[in-house]
Amino acid sequence: MSVDANRIDALQAEGRTFPPPPDFAAQANAQAGIYEKGFEEFWEEEGRRRVTWYKPFDKLYEWNPPYAKWYLGGQLNVCYNCVDRHVESGLGEKVAFYWEGEPDDERRAVTFADLQRDVVRFANGLKKLGVKKGTPVGIYMGMCMDLPVAMLACARLGAPFTVVFGGFSADALSGRLNDMGVEVLITQDEGWRKGNKVPLKAHSDAAMEMSPTVRTCLVSRRMGDPINMREGRDVYVDEVIQGLSDDPSSCPCEPMDSEDLLYLLYTSGTTAKPKGIVHTTGGYLVGVATTHYYIFDVKPESVYWCAADIGWVTGHSYILFAPLCNGVTGVIYEGVPNHPNEERWWEIIERYKVDILYTAPTTIRTHMKWGPQYAQKHDLSSLRLLGTVGEPINPEAWIWYREHVGLGRTPVVDTWWQTETGMILITPLPGLTTLKPGSATKPFPTVDAAVYDERGHEVPPGQGGYLVVRKPWPAMLRGIYNDPDRYQETYWSRYKDVYFVGDGARKDADGDFWLMGRIDDVMNISAHRISTIEVESALVDHPAVAEAAVCGRSDPQTGQAIVAYVTLKATHQPSVELLSVLRDHVSMKIGKIAAPANIVFTPELPKTRSGKIMRRLLRDVAEHRTLGDTTTLADPTVVEELRSRAVTEEGKEQ
Ligand code: WTA
Repeated sequence: MSVDANRIDALQAEGRTFPPPPDFAAQANAQAGIYEKGFEEFWEEEGRRRVTWYKPFDKLYEWNPPYAKWYLGGQLNVCYNCVDRHVESGLGEKVAFYWEGEPDDERRAVTFADLQRDVVRFANGLKKLGVKKGTPVGIYMGMCMDLPVAMLACARLGAPFTVVFGGFSADALSGRLNDMGVEVLITQDEGWRKGNKVPLKAHSDAAMEMSPTVRTCLVSRRMGDPINMREGRDVYVDEVIQGLSDDPSSCPCEPMDSEDLLYLLYTSGTTAKPKGIVHTTGGYLVGVATTHYYIFDVKPESVYWCAADIGWVTGHSYILFAPLCNGVTGVIYEGVPNHPNEERWWEIIERYKVDILYTAPTTIRTHMKWGPQYAQKHDLSSLRLLGTVGEPINPEAWIWYREHVGLGRTPVVDTWWQTETGMILITPLPGLTTLKPGSATKPFPTVDAAVYDERGHEVPPGQGGYLVVRKPWPAMLRGIYNDPDRYQETYWSRYKDVYFVGDGARKDADGDFWLMGRIDDVMNISAHRISTIEVESALVDHPAVAEAAVCGRSDPQTGQAIVAYVTLKATHQPSVELLSVLRDHVSMKIGKIAAPANIVFTPELPKTRSGKIMRRLLRDVAEHRTLGDTTTLADPTVVEELRSRAVTEEGKEQ
């Protein structure tokens, strides 16, 4: 985006509001006064309350832009906080995770005591293979129980790790292994994906050909099918840990400094090389546990389900570390939402009486496309809170989620954050905040978020601009691994000493934030800068539409013209009439300027692996293809091409 670009025009007008239900408010973890606490007071207190320290911290934080340190002088261990201390305090028999395999008949209730035994044995196995404090470990797995066990075992030993999402290719895996200099790779024979077996070990083999630093490959046996094992390099987990002790005293938790590296998580950028986002120990754990406690309103009896993949930051922070640190029971489901059919999620919620569900807008829209009849067959009355993350949520998807999943009574928390932020930064607090569908509402207590114009001035209410964060926060990234220049350039060069997010946003007159997507996605129509999410939400507002993605293509008259890709609900069919109906609907909702010049119906939108719509790809298609004025059905080969190209892409688009 050029430096002298116009401001981003904010056109969307969403007027519905949902104050907190009084009974929810009365029992909420976050009570009035939380926003008034001082920055230092708040984090000093949470730092002591959420985490058990071997050695207490003696300084809250240090800020030498662009580098922050938190809880200086403190020593702790993440695995001790997530597992051992709960067993010690008598919670050993409490369920840590209900694990459910993709095949319908595989279930396991893993207590904190079970988890401790599994982690200790696994860590003893890693020790046997020479892993110790500081040894870089790679983890490339599906959502089997050995994945969280492996991560916790690394944390126990003080071995920094990087988890590579099991959907990534051998190339993507190898790039990450090389960047971190990984010595030991943990993988599994095969993983399940929609009834098919994904050859994770075979991908690992291909990656290791290109990654000479990996000396040992540890393989978890998920399927048991014969696979290639290279003598001297590859070993099965069950063989390594056989006969090893599961007594915690046989493998004590390594005391770590607050600022010791916990993990790297790679996120892609404009250039091909992914960025290794650095997360450390103390501030990260306090940050995720604190936000989890107040935002998800977890109780000792909660059954909390974050339905993300552990391979993404959402899974690291809010499936694994925060809920375990808070001693909360979680659900881990290995498979896709429609295996063996579209009821699977609702069965899981009914079976475990899940009270908190956290997922992504893309999944909600997928359920919308299938229709509400599947959810309606199940008892979802245990749910008392819903959350979303990953993309701006279209107001209609928000309403659908609250109506059909939350049965018209649960709050919905739209949580904004990033791999880089480590923890949620903009979010409602469900007992305090009046919700607005489509808005992530307020910065979390002490978080100093603002919307800037090009010159670094705050824009007035209602006007779009660039989202920034002006004060450090405990779980913030500590840099890009081995690349300080890129760290400075990407996040800290636009404005001095202010974190540049890369998202567009506006703040309304009540101080609520509306996220407008990545700034590269903004369109420029007749000198109006229009965000894709507003047009998409206007389309999704129409009863026929389940999902929509829009992008700009060049146009001789208007600079750019809007092209919309639309997926209809199962109940509707594409037609020429619907084209003009949808155009009129957008004109009516946000104005003629935003009416799409072309609409393409498509059964599927191209998405990144984590479910974000890939507008960059749509732009390419829109630019290189003449789309007639009344284009109706997408050429199926185009959609095929979109899809096949989409799966080679990864991460978010920036
Ligand atoms: C987008 C995921 C609007 C945003 C935790 C951000 C959102 C990027 C929201 C980070 C939300 C995430 N509303 N947009 N509630 N949550 N985003 O690193 O563009 O996979 O910059 O982290 O997702 O994606 P990441």
